[in-house]
Amino acid sequence: MSRFAYVNGRFVRHGQAAVHIEDRGYQLADGVYEVWAVFDGKLADAAGHFARLWRSLDELRIAHPMSEASLTIVLREAIRRNQVREGLVYLQVTRGVARRDHAFPNPAVPPAVVITARSVDRVAAEAKAAKGSGVVTVPENRWGRCDIKTIGLLPNALAKQAAREHGAIEAWFVDELGLVTEGASSNAWIVDAEGRLRTRDTQANILRGVTRLTLLDVIAEAGLPVEERPFTVEEAKAAKEAFITGAGSLVTPIVTIDGVKVGDGTVGPVASRLRGAYIERAKAGAI
Ligand code: PDD
Repeated sequence: MSRFAYVNGRFVRHGQAAVHIEDRGYQLADGVYEVWAVFDGKLADAAGHFARLWRSLDELRIAHPMSEASLTIVLREAIRRNQVREGLVYLQVTRGVARRDHAFPNPAVPPAVVITARSVDRVAAEAKAAKGSGVVTVPENRWGRCDIKTIGLLPNALAKQAAREHGAIEAWFVDELGLVTEGASSNAWIVDAEGRLRTRDTQANILRGVTRLTLLDVIAEAGLPVEERPFTVEEAKAAKEAFITGAGSLVTPIVTIDGVKVGDGTVGPVASRLRGAYIERAKAGAI
């Protein structure tokens, strides 16, 4: 099947899609991105991802490339053209193309937009989630604005590679106090020894995960005890359960941390229940 990408105003064949060599995203990582899960051809948690996109752009003083209504149309078109029923949509907005200079182009240039969409095998993902996965821990080494979803992902890429080399699905960043901040591409959660759900608060230097926020709602509705409070690696290793959340991972149970079993090393009831409840909620709210 042919794939299509949206590049600066038009859909082109994926294999031929290209941006200029002086795109500031390419040279300076001067841009932001968003990822939406797609269920049954529709965008999950759409409003949350749009809100964060506008905030990321505003924080970096990059112009909005189009209105939310227009962007929704283009994202849906990317889904349609790529025949995605279950999958992901990726959007990247950079400050644009200009002669290389660290400071912003003056006069400003139009932001550059790239959108891709791809299918995900949700049957395989369910089977993987039922088995559970591992995480490894790595020292936190990112800049102080991880609340902005920038395309500057080198520490995240290195962390993810470390995870891959240890047979793990994700790496958890750990700050100088020994507290887990978040994953390389997900938020981190545990069900602590007392049975309380715990995830780091958003005052910390982490991404305000959209999946995290929706899941907090699902948890409140289910009446489960939850605290937005940091946890140490030791607490995580001694926890009853652990899991990660994100547009890619949805809710994915974690059964080992640095090779140490969490609980009995099998997927726990809370994580598997929350995965089902999150997917149900996301499907119901998808647009
Ligand atoms: N990553 N933390 C980081 C560092 C992330 O990169 C992500 C998402 C999350 C979870 O956010 P959300 O629930 O809004 O997807 C947390 C995306 C999926 C990615 O980089 O592919």
